[in-house]
Amino acid sequence: MISFRKKTIAATLIVVGIIAFGSLSFSQAPQPHHERPKNLKILPKNIDDATLIAIMHNFEHALNYHCEDCHAPSATNPKKLDFASDANPHKDIARHMMKMMMKINKKYFKVKGGNFASNYVNAKYDVTCYTCHHGSKHPLTFPDMEKMENAVMQKQ
Ligand code: HEC
Ligand code: HEC
Repeated sequence: MISFRKKTIAATLIVVGIIAFGSLSFSQAPQPHHERPKNLKILPKNIDDATLIAIMHNFEHALNYHCEDCHAPSATNPKKLDFASDANPHKDIARHMMKMMMKINKKYFKVKGGNFASNYVNAKYDVTCYTCHHGSKHPLTFPDMEKMENAVMQKQ
């Protein structure tokens, strides 16, 4: 009887173990490729992966950049990027731009509350990276006079 009980307990433990292990690997399933962000200074530290990547893709399109234009290569594997590293100066320039963007929107467009991530993905900001950059790393400071003159010529 006792040995039967022991066997039952052992079997139960194994089953519980399998379930616990299964749910552990399941709860980690959404982020199989990389770790949690560890060097966020502006974005919320508990940001979910989908929101972080959506913002990063947006930065790419706004400037016609790729990930590696802001992120330095990994020291151990140069084929990979070290996203947490601040070695690429463009990353800090981007942070500076994020701060400026928050300030402009708060002060001149009355976008109050929320954080950079929620305001950005919910299109709460009036002035964004794209407003200035329009797909270029160097925003235009003056209207393209040549284009304007051509347009005037065509009208005549
Ligand atoms: C215009 C510059 C820029 C581009 C382009 C860019 N990033 Fe970022 N990325 C940043 C900045 C700035 C941060 C840090 C934000 C902060 O401090 O809150 C960051 C943070 C990250 C992080 C978090 C790293 C950590 O551990 O803290 C990941 C992951 C990441 N980027 C992935 C990407 C991917 C993938 C791409 C390309 C699809 C990309 N980024 C393109 C500027 C950029
Ligand atoms: C109010 C306008 C404005 C906004 C908004 C803005 N930028 Fe900029 N950004 C500039 C100007 C102006 C420069 C300097 C351009 C130059 O050197 O020709 C610049 C330069 C940069 C550079 C350096 C480019 C280089 O190669 O030297 C990066 C990176 C950058 N911005 C990223 C961003 C990101 C990311 C955002 C959104 C979070 C953003 N910017 C929002 C105006 C803006």
